[in-house]
Amino acid sequence: MNLNEIIKNRRATPPKFMAKKEVDKELILNLLENANWAPNHKNTEPWRFIVFQEESKQKLAKSAFALLEEKYNQGEEINMQKAVKFRDNLIHVPVAMAIVMQRDSAERIPEWEEIAAVSMAVQNMWLTATDLGLGAFWTTPPFLLHIQSLLELKPKQKLLGFFFVGHIAMEYPSPGRGPVFEKVDWK
Ligand SMILES: Cc1cc2nc3c(=O)[nH]c(=O)nc-3n(C[C@H](O)[C@H](O)[C@H](O)COP(=O)(O)O)c2cc1C
Repeated sequence: MNLNEIIKNRRATPPKFMAKKEVDKELILNLLENANWAPNHKNTEPWRFIVFQEESKQKLAKSAFALLEEKYNQGEEINMQKAVKFRDNLIHVPVAMAIVMQRDSAERIPEWEEIAAVSMAVQNMWLTATDLGLGAFWTTPPFLLHIQSLLELKPKQKLLGFFFVGHIAMEYPSPGRGPVFEKVDWK
C-alpha cells in the first residue's frame, strides 16, 4: 500500500472485530517506534504509553471494573453499561495501551499542543498498524479520570484513553467522510 492507500484503509476496528490472537512484540515495538517520531513543539516528546497484555491486562480489567462499581455504589454518576463494555473489551483485545500525555515540567507550551502531539503519535501508530495488517481502536470512555488513578501516573501526566491493537478478525465498514471541499475555504 502506498501512503494514500494506508490513510484511506485505516479503520477504527472495534474490539469485537479483533482476533483473539497475540500480537508479536516486534510489531508492537514497530508501532511504538513510529509513535516516537511524531512532530512536537519544543521537542517535549510528550507521548507516553503503558502496554498491557495477558496477565497485566486481565488484572487491569478486573481492578478498573471493581473501582467503577465501587464509585457507582458510592453514588457517583458512572455508566455501568459502559463500564461492563470497557472491562469486556480489555479482556478481549490482545493489546491495550494507555495513551498518556506528559506535560512539559515548565509548561512552556499550552496543554492542547502536547495533546495534539500525542494524537499525532497515535496516528503514526494507527497508520503503521494498517500497514502491518493490524486493527486498532482509540477508546475514550467517560470514566478515564477514575481509571487514571490505577495507573500510577507520574506528576503532570494525563490519561487520554486506551489504544487497542489486534489482528483483524473481520473488516469493519468505513463510515466514509464527507467531501473535503466542504471543510476548506480557498482565499
Ligand atoms: C480522540 C479519539 C477518541 C475516540 N474515542 C472513541 C470512543 O471512545 N469510542 C469509539 O467507538 N470510537 C472512538 N474513536 C474512533 C472513532 O469512532 C472512529 O475513528 C470514527 O468512527 C471513524 O471511523 P474510522 O476511523 O474507521 O474512519 C475515537 C477517535 C479519536 C480520534
